[in-house]
Amino acid sequence: MSEKNFPLSSEKLRAFAEKHGTPFHIYDGIAIEDRAKSMLDAFSWSAGFINYFAVKALPNINILRLLYRAGFGADCSSLAELYLAKEAGIPSEKIMFSSNDTSDDEFREAIRMGVILNLDDESYIDDVLRLNGELPETISFRYNPGRDRTGNAIIGNPVEAKYGVTHAQLANCYKRAKELGVKRFFLHTMVASNELNEDYIVETARMLFSLVDEIYQETGIRISQLDLGGGIGIPYRPEDNGISFYSLSEKIRKLYEEMIDKKGLGPVRISFECGRAITGPFGYLVSKVQHVEHKYRDYIGLDACMADLMRPGMYGAYHHITVSGKEHAEANHVYDVTGSLCENNDKFAIQRALPEIERGDLLIIHDTGAHGHSMGFNYNGRLRHAEYMILEDGIYKIRRDESYEDYIRTMLKEPEKA
Ligand code: LLP
Repeated sequence: MSEKNFPLSSEKLRAFAEKHGTPFHIYDGIAIEDRAKSMLDAFSWSAGFINYFAVKALPNINILRLLYRAGFGADCSSLAELYLAKEAGIPSEKIMFSSNDTSDDEFREAIRMGVILNLDDESYIDDVLRLNGELPETISFRYNPGRDRTGNAIIGNPVEAKYGVTHAQLANCYKRAKELGVKRFFLHTMVASNELNEDYIVETARMLFSLVDEIYQETGIRISQLDLGGGIGIPYRPEDNGISFYSLSEKIRKLYEEMIDKKGLGPVRISFECGRAITGPFGYLVSKVQHVEHKYRDYIGLDACMADLMRPGMYGAYHHITVSGKEHAEANHVYDVTGSLCENNDKFAIQRALPEIERGDLLIIHDTGAHGHSMGFNYNGRLRHAEYMILEDGIYKIRRDESYEDYIRTMLKEPEKA
């Protein structure tokens, strides 16, 4: 069970919304920092343990800086994300570049910045050589286990997924890297998304530990860092149970002792790239009810739309919704909660039991701290909204609303001859 609370009282939220307008995402920075520190604490048995926070989950400089100060690095999948991580002050050795279908420009810039390259394909060794003349001292390969693992709907079945080096290719990648002068070898995988079964993550650790052995046997190369990727799930539904970093870490530690320590393969540093498990539960989309409509169904029309949160429309994902000030009222009405896009899947909830809702009510859509604002887009000319962060001494604005001027900035008012 997970409780669905909101960090501000309904009076405080109402006053804030009246002053600053709606909709907006608000993140509990205090809870995010605690969560980050608890992950580091749980894995402190692994010397140098690090979580490269997946920037794609919540790409805001202020959040990245807060996480860096708590002890995290950053995992980036694009140039823009690399720049954000740098703007947040994160040093290059704490930045992982887990890109795929990587362009020459991205490789050039990532190499210039000196971040850790996590290569998604065998052929990327040649790309880096062509662009840089040599490989960096540290290199990571992303592994795709194919039929050995199952994956899930969001990340895809590994055999069908475009990511990573196959089992048959892996040892040769390391061999080539060594011949080309690489000194430190990392191994990465990402086979789960929003996984709530702790044992699935433990199995990922087992898979990587056994690869460390296999690669050593086959090539004599010692892997010095394993990256278990992101994908640790969060309890979107109140009846779900979240994963405890402590219990997960304990199981991984036992396996490490057995499979790495006892075989003399260590030390191997453990790392993750979790985004969702760090910020997801501590973000909220606050939106005001503009309409209560009675058609074949009853609809609640919000001032937020899919531009603010795509997950329900895109994956049919569940996000819990509460009505500020009516947390204890009986959920005796059934509504579709919608946005304003000309898309019938622009719905935050379908046939959801909620208390009776009136125009002007403030709805809180929970668990939007990861893959929320970041997935927004501008279809229908809808603009993305502001982000706020709660800290000990108050609430800070960390992104303003997009404006019409932002929206048309890239458009030429008169055609330019190409
Ligand atoms: N590392 C890599 C290489 C990834 O591809 C991802 C997510 C992560 C880390 C972070 O995963 P997390 O710990 O945040 O689950 N938009 C989807 C999720 C897409 C996941 C893609 N990769 C959603 O809204 O659920």
